[in-house]
Amino acid sequence: MTTLLNLDDLTPVTAGTRRRVYLVPGMGDGVLLKIQDYTAEERDQKPLKRLRRRLIPQSRYRMMAREVAMQETRYLRAGDRAAELPLPLFHGYLATQQGIGALWQAVRGPDGTLAPTLKSRVKRGQLPEMIAPLNRFVAALSEFHVVVADLNPRNIVLDPKGRMVMVDGFLDQAALPLRSWSRSLNDRRLNAACTYLAGRLDVTWDPRSRSFAL
Ligand SMILES: Nc1ncnc2c1ncn2[C@@H]1O[C@H](COP(=O)(O)OP(=O)(O)OP(=O)(O)O)[C@@H](O)[C@H]1O
Ligand SMILES: [Mg+2]
Repeated sequence: MTTLLNLDDLTPVTAGTRRRVYLVPGMGDGVLLKIQDYTAEERDQKPLKRLRRRLIPQSRYRMMAREVAMQETRYLRAGDRAAELPLPLFHGYLATQQGIGALWQAVRGPDGTLAPTLKSRVKRGQLPEMIAPLNRFVAALSEFHVVVADLNPRNIVLDPKGRMVMVDGFLDQAALPLRSWSRSLNDRRLNAACTYLAGRLDVTWDPRSRSFAL
């Protein structure tokens, strides 16, 4: 038996809108723990949903489990090209006093701290240097058939080799996971996601050449 990790004693290294990110003592800085706070969300739930959570407690972790499944299947399918997958490695689950979290490879930036996001690079005026890595990144998402639910500049980080990695929002949310089954459907939706991202970044996306340009 292991004891539940108490996160009250730890300070998150960063956070998104839904999840907090921690480095876990004793695990080194190559792995990070992501934990979602479900309390507010579950307090406001309708009775039917609340009942479902009670009967199927693991349903609250559905999104996390789908991200893990996406990483796992694409990683194993990639075989000897697994290192090219634009997703972090999954290292397992960890039970804490605030629920179960997922352990992911911590992508590091050139200075050894957490990798900078595409958003932060653009803010610093480095958009021109981001176009080529972004085009390679989108080609990799398509090639490895990664289903993307939220292609936003905070979910994309740059590793020390200048490669982009998606750290959040890689899952198929549909009840009938058509995009996971059909590569061409996934490519079409990826095109739509790129059009959206191009709007956010104020660049153009050409769906025929499948590339961004200033
Ligand atoms: N594996 C990782 N390696 C490096 N940095 C990461 C990793 N995972 C997350 N981060 C950093 O932590 C931030 C928050 O993580 P994440 O996007 O998973 O949280 P979220 O709350 O789901 O995000 P959102 O605000 O998009 O809903 C990211 O924007 C990124 O800067
Ligand atoms: Mg995010």
